[in-house]
Amino acid sequence: MSANGPPAGSNEFWLFGYGSLIWKPPPHFDRRIEGWVTDYVRRFWQVCVSHSEDHRGTPEAPGRVVTLIERSFWEQLTDHHGSAPHKVWGVAYLIRPDKVDEVKEYLDIREINGYTIHYTLFHPAASVDPALLPRSGPIKALAYIGTPDNEQFVGPQDPQRLAEHIYHSRGPSGLNREYLWELEKALEELSPESGDEHVTDLSNRVRAVAAQDGENGSKSSQTPVNVDTSAEQPIHHDFRQIKSIDEQEETEKTS
Ligand code: BEZ
Repeated sequence: MSANGPPAGSNEFWLFGYGSLIWKPPPHFDRRIEGWVTDYVRRFWQVCVSHSEDHRGTPEAPGRVVTLIERSFWEQLTDHHGSAPHKVWGVAYLIRPDKVDEVKEYLDIREINGYTIHYTLFHPAASVDPALLPRSGPIKALAYIGTPDNEQFVGPQDPQRLAEHIYHSRGPSGLNREYLWELEKALEELSPESGDEHVTDLSNRVRAVAAQDGENGSKSSQTPVNVDTSAEQPIHHDFRQIKSIDEQEETEKTS
């Protein structure tokens, strides 16, 4: 099966999430399946612009969010994080058939900032109940990817400078470091093998910067003490199904 187009002869719409979609599901999903894709590398190399869903910075100091880099392209680059797991873990959502058009429209608005649509083969984790799967074998899924030719793509970053940048970025969606730590936690929860050293190393560096800055950067608290946290919630991932896009947008405004 090729991954270059939408699934032939199938109305199923599966969406692969490797970033905030892991802990912030789209509306109208029927199933959420843990698993992985190959041939990509996850990196914090995408600028989040102010009108994007994950606007964790300001126009003057935009934060950083993840994108997927094609592994064959990444192998030609000099990356301070010189290795990357063979499997990029995330989740695939099956969208209700009667809501596919609505969700696609919603996602286009939500994610378009530099990201483009790609189809990839998603491999469900071995632990997934086969009754939840349409068939055995990989599933064709849509992923939003910020490719190197998009304006928000920044390319290889020095990890310490990137960590400091993330530490200092904050926007209407919250602290950039919370996005990073949410991702680290969400990945740890997917499977015993789903950690991503790029994400873990950045998380540790940001905790160290926070500690140096006098903030409580410990992994257990994960909430900086010197910022106004009145609008922030502790990290807790539940995956209740959002019934409407209006409800989803309300949830996002308050999360
Ligand atoms: C993701 O979670 O997969 C994702 C979220 C926002 C933009 C692109 C990808």
